Amino acid sequence: MTHAHITAWAIGIILFFVAYAMYRNKNSKAKMVHMITRLMYIIIVITGFLLYQSIMKTAAGNIHMWYGIKMLVGLWVIGAMEMILIRTNKGKNANAGWIQFVIALLVVLYLGLRLPMGFAPLA
Ligand code: HEM
Repeated sequence: MTHAHITAWAIGIILFFVAYAMYRNKNSKAKMVHMITRLMYIIIVITGFLLYQSIMKTAAGNIHMWYGIKMLVGLWVIGAMEMILIRTNKGKNANAGWIQFVIALLVVLYLGLRLPMGFAPLA
């Protein structure tokens, strides 16, 4: 599941940048790429939730809380990506979204690589 999760968010983030560039260039196919990006969001959330469930029975101490925070910040990254794409499509300033995206992405990468499942080089 870890690999499915990593694959899902890696593809999701790449598609997010592609959709962003296409909206910027007023490419008529941007909406289509955006819809596929949204499909990746769903896969990211499902794989993330399955990872969460797989450790919840045995999680002890405050690790429980950190998993909860990992999920919330993961959802925040997705929210920021969506905000950027929608505002860019409307021709509005998306800086607030970019700031959130960078902060939330750094935090989620740190938490993901710190928490014990899968790769944990920062543990
Ligand atoms: C774009 C958004 C996201 C990114 C970039 C991301 C990134 C990561 C990374 C780097 C890992 C560590 C993988 C490993 O240790 O091998 C991870 C694990 C995990 N993610 Fe996400 N994630 C995102 C969204 C989500 C969401 C939305 C959820 C929950 C619904 C979630 C839940 C989890 C859980 C529970 C783990 C296991 C943590 C561990 O023990 O390593 N993630 N994620």
